[in-house]
Amino acid sequence: MVKECGIFDHSQILLEKMTPGVFLTSAAGGKRNTMIIGWGGIQVVWNRPLMVVYVRHIRATHELIEKSGQFTISVPTEKDLSAEIKTCGTRSMRDIGDKFAYCKLTPVPGRRVDVPIIGECGLHYECRVLLKQELQSEAIPDFVKKRFYPKEAYHTVYYADIVDTYLYDGGR
Ligand SMILES: Cc1cc2nc3c(=O)[nH]c(=O)nc-3n(C[C@H](O)[C@H](O)[C@H](O)COP(=O)(O)O)c2cc1C
Repeated sequence: MVKECGIFDHSQILLEKMTPGVFLTSAAGGKRNTMIIGWGGIQVVWNRPLMVVYVRHIRATHELIEKSGQFTISVPTEKDLSAEIKTCGTRSMRDIGDKFAYCKLTPVPGRRVDVPIIGECGLHYECRVLLKQELQSEAIPDFVKKRFYPKEAYHTVYYADIVDTYLYDGGR
């Protein structure tokens, strides 16, 4: 079911799948949630490979990551999950509740974090936040602000250690 792999082995797939979007799943206090991200990827910082993700502070997901300091990234490989991506990328847990139930996605327990992965996806990263950075309004160029932050819903950038990476064939 699970095939071990190195952190960088499938990083090209991860980057390619950022468009149309990959699942970022979080959990804390008995709640679990998944949303879609299109920005981020693996970077080498402080001599270690880190998963870097951008989550706006208004997201329900933001609240869960702040509480637990953990998340998983699940990348669709074989199955067409475009309908689920649309729902999880446009609807909030605050409006529709448990998106796993709503979208009939399978939560599979993480191996090294207390956050599930998406069983329908083939490639997974389990992550623990090492550092976060709030994007500062005054540091953002005006044209970027106008286009991406008209309502001042700035991103928090999370730099996270990748504590596990694997392929899961439940994703077929
Ligand atoms: C293709 C795509 C990419 C997205 N990328 C991001 C992203 O990188 N960061 C972010 O904060 N929201 C992003 N979103 C929006 C969230 O997925 C969306 O607002 C989601 O409903 C948030 O769910 P939540 O409130 O339950 O956390 C993206 C949406 C789509 C469709």
